[in-house]
Amino acid sequence: MLDAERRRIFARTWQAVGRTESVAELASYLGCEIAGEPVLVTRAEDGELHAFSNVCRHRGALLEQGEGRGPVIRCPYHAWTYSLDGRLYSAPEFDGVAEWDRGDVCLPRFQTAAWVRSFSSTRMPARSR
Ligand code: FES
Repeated sequence: MLDAERRRIFARTWQAVGRTESVAELASYLGCEIAGEPVLVTRAEDGELHAFSNVCRHRGALLEQGEGRGPVIRCPYHAWTYSLDGRLYSAPEFDGVAEWDRGDVCLPRFQTAAWVRSFSSTRMPARSR
C-alpha cells in the first residue's frame, strides 16, 4: 500500500516539508522526510532553494538531520563532502580511482518551490521499476 501511495500520490504531488524561514539564510539546510524518503532542502550560496536525497552516494549514510548552516554538507561516515546544490565536492582517498570521476557524482535532485513565503515544498521523482 505504501509503495502504491509513493508512486500515485507522493511522486505526483507537492509535499510541504517545512517553513521557508528554516532555510532563509544563505548556506542553511533542513533535513526532513517524505514517505520514508530522507530529503535535504538547502539555500545555496547563490540564494536558490535546492532539494535532494539526504543519503550519501558512497555507502548510504544519512547526511544531515534537522536544521543547520554550513558552507558544505559533510557525510559523518567517511567525510565525503557535497556542495549546497548537491554536487560532490570532495571524496577523501578517492583521487586516482580508475574509471571514477568526482564530477559525475551528485545527490539525486527533487523539485522544490517556496509557497506564499511560508512553506518549502518538494516533489519526489517517480521511482523507476
Ligand atoms: S557513507 Fe558517506 S562518505 Fe562514506
